[in-house]
Amino acid sequence: MRGVFIVIDGLGGSGKTTQLTMLKKRLGRRALFTHEPGGAPRAERIRDILKSGKGPKLDPLTDFFLFWAARAEHVGARIKPALRKGKIVISDRFDSSTFAMQVRGDEQKTLEKLFWQCREHTLEGCMPDLYVILDASISTSRSRRRGRGEGEDRFDEREEAYQKRVRAGYKEFAKRLGKRALVLDAAEPQRDVNETIVHAIEKLA
Ligand code: TMP
Repeated sequence: MRGVFIVIDGLGGSGKTTQLTMLKKRLGRRALFTHEPGGAPRAERIRDILKSGKGPKLDPLTDFFLFWAARAEHVGARIKPALRKGKIVISDRFDSSTFAMQVRGDEQKTLEKLFWQCREHTLEGCMPDLYVILDASISTSRSRRRGRGEGEDRFDEREEAYQKRVRAGYKEFAKRLGKRALVLDAAEPQRDVNETIVHAIEKLA
């Protein structure tokens, strides 16, 4: 029996962490919670390179392939084994982030075709059953991140136009995926958002 694979994604400050905490309480041991970049030992080492603020900015192509390299490890070492055990796998971010940030945010139009090819190849046998995209306005996402006192990461440092492209990129990705994606308004009460997510997961599990 194959389990169910769900991705929760969206801008920082879109309520992802709150939703994941609520889902952990609701689903308990039926679910395996994981995240990207990382989620498996060697993928975590790639995460360290990606998140390190030191040194010059990575070339966009390096960035793109490091996210896919980490994902290949994550899929093979963690996600597929859990799905084979019939688990509900919930990933905090996945390739939806690469599409939104590297392809659309960084305006790497030439990577678009490569993105869909990497996706086909890397996710063979473990395509997510559902992407939940938490859609927040740029101002909501920024004020929530500041409210949490989060340190700035590479995303926060970028200009508003970039953040708008990323937001639109998530919506475009969801549109492309059709029924396999659900875009939810992150401004709705968190409990209502959670009910909708749990309902969608239960329909698949
Ligand atoms: P986080 O784990 O604290 O959310 O940090 C991950 C950062 O990496 C966040 O800014 C989003 C970014 N990211 C990408 O740019 N592309 C990707 O494919 C993924 C998974 C994350």
